[in-house]
Amino acid sequence: MLDRGPLGKHANVEEGYFMFPKLEGEISPRMKFRGKEVLTWSLNNYLGLANHPEVRKADAEASSEWGLAYPMGARMMSGNTNYHVELENQLAEFVQKESTILLNFGYQGIMSAIDAIVDRRDVIVYDAESHASIVDGVRLHMGKRFVFPHNNIENLEKQLERAQKITDETGGGILVITEGVFGMSGNMGDLKGIVALRKKFQFRLLVDDAHGFGTMGKTGAGAGEEQGVQGEIDLYFSTFAKSMASIGAFIAGNKDIIEYLRYNTRSQIFAKSLPMPLVLGALKRLELLKTQPQLKEKLWVIVNALQSAYKANGFNIGTTKSPVTPVVLNGTVGEAANLAMDLRENFGIFCSVVIYPVVPRGSIILRIIPTADHTLADVEETINAFVKIKKKLDDGYYKEQNLVEFSE
Ligand SMILES: Cc1ncc(COP(=O)(O)O)c(C=O)c1O
Repeated sequence: MLDRGPLGKHANVEEGYFMFPKLEGEISPRMKFRGKEVLTWSLNNYLGLANHPEVRKADAEASSEWGLAYPMGARMMSGNTNYHVELENQLAEFVQKESTILLNFGYQGIMSAIDAIVDRRDVIVYDAESHASIVDGVRLHMGKRFVFPHNNIENLEKQLERAQKITDETGGGILVITEGVFGMSGNMGDLKGIVALRKKFQFRLLVDDAHGFGTMGKTGAGAGEEQGVQGEIDLYFSTFAKSMASIGAFIAGNKDIIEYLRYNTRSQIFAKSLPMPLVLGALKRLELLKTQPQLKEKLWVIVNALQSAYKANGFNIGTTKSPVTPVVLNGTVGEAANLAMDLRENFGIFCSVVIYPVVPRGSIILRIIPTADHTLADVEETINAFVKIKKKLDDGYYKEQNLVEFSE
């Protein structure tokens, strides 16, 4: 039997409502869902680049000039161009590293890079809340792996002691993996705490900064820059899927290790290189990251207004230190479905709903992703709606007997 997850049984809704919903119209804070306009808070388009006129123009011109085919083949064989190299150089400079390797997709890229940089003598120590792509990379590892509870530096120290005992015997090394910004909670990885352990242990640090790239740090170089430890990150990973609003990814680090990755990252060696529109589009996006700091400033105006309004109205938004804003409510899966439907159908607000088993039973997280395209009026409208739905939830309105009707 097809398992559509716990929401499927509880919510009396058509397919495509919660799972695989279709947002239509131009990417912006106002899109259409089931034909009706919704205020959209679910896209990682942090800087509003997805529909930026200069980005759209660059994408269109590159597609028209080059098509999607060029270059053919993997980078190593026949798929390299000056533009790929230029993008790598500019990315390296932007994240303050010596060198960069482009990846076609973040997911396969980081998985494959993890696979490439460790062998069976090495030990991986990673944060328990790491993204699936990291977990899958760790799964490929033939040696030992230890997990530390999310951001628990004391426990990390214990895991490093265990790891060191092993590498003392095998002659291998230790790879610590965490994220710059965790996409569910909005917490930053405690990079400062991790690098402080270098006084006692030798390890390499890989940071997945998918959500921090472009949003955090003075120049947008990410969570490492924000915490003053960018130079201590050995391997800095980000995808183009968030702030850059595109496809592709990269890993930056010192020349030697990146050179090693160029010859050993299987997802790149055995795959066609990024097509030109994606490369030229990424160069344009990077130019805007560098030359238009007001995009990040605007994002943070919205983030600060939104997060302080939630707090002022008594909402629990966890311990976020980034634009990712999880609104934590208490309720059953059935209540979550009814509440989310009410929010979408009657208040015209679309955000991602996170339920058991991703979060503990009895918790509902409505994840709000602010962008530079949102306005303070959008924030006000949203907070007003949330105050109302929270009251309804507290009053028991969303218990299963009160299933919300669709207003067609
Ligand atoms: C933390 C994190 N790492 C890796 C990825 C995978 O990146 P991509 O979408 O480029 O495959 C994502 C999702 O985009 C992510 O959120």
